Amino acid sequence: MANRKKIIAGNWKLNKTAGETRSTILELRNKLAGLATRAEVVVFPPFVSLETAVDAARETVLKVGAQNVFWEKSGAYTGEVSVTMLETLGLEFVLLGHSERRVLFGETDATVARRLEAVLDGKLTPIVCVGEVLEERESNRTGEVLERQVGGALRNVAPDHIGRIVVAYEPVWAIGTGKTASPAIANDAHTLIRSSIAAMFGRSAADETSILYGGSVKPENTASLMSESEVDGVLVGGASLDAASFAEVVRAAG
Ligand code: 13P
Repeated sequence: MANRKKIIAGNWKLNKTAGETRSTILELRNKLAGLATRAEVVVFPPFVSLETAVDAARETVLKVGAQNVFWEKSGAYTGEVSVTMLETLGLEFVLLGHSERRVLFGETDATVARRLEAVLDGKLTPIVCVGEVLEERESNRTGEVLERQVGGALRNVAPDHIGRIVVAYEPVWAIGTGKTASPAIANDAHTLIRSSIAAMFGRSAADETSILYGGSVKPENTASLMSESEVDGVLVGGASLDAASFAEVVRAAG
């Protein structure tokens, strides 16, 4: 995986109250203590638990990120939060364009691009999620879909900002289904994503971009996914909710 940043991320989605967030992070702290990993380990709790999460993760290797962010700085946008609000909480990461946002909440490549622009105006590290649905894979359109999603989301990114972006490949058919992509399928998709980035920003920028795999990652399949040359980390849903299993994923990722 060359010199790329290795990231093990846990997307908690709509799970855990603030109290549960605190106790899970405290448990995770204990389990990760003494574990030698050069990976960045990040959890993504719901918005209302972020402050608690940052506090519980203080002085540990654990980092905290948000699951989404709006592009405007302030104003009449009921229900939204801004980049500055997240930054002042002490967060370091934000997920953008998760397939659940796309499928359930109308997110498009264009809205992901706007969010990404706003994030890059600040200091957070964006993790841009892309991935095909089953029907697209079965009709051999995976490459085309990934190219469109990467191209669409990154279209307004300035060349000097590409180095701050992380991409997550999450095939929609593998999310929450128990059907993990095989290491070879993940590696091929990551290669396609890297080619799309190379076409836009050049080969060396593409070679330095970390690309994570997500979709039914578990302690048992982490090592084989991570052994692929193009897989630089994992974005874990269900298996990140339990501190013991997420710690096992971190351990297995090496
Ligand atoms: P699962 O690990 O539960 O399949 O979820 C993956 C995911 O969507 C992470 O963002």
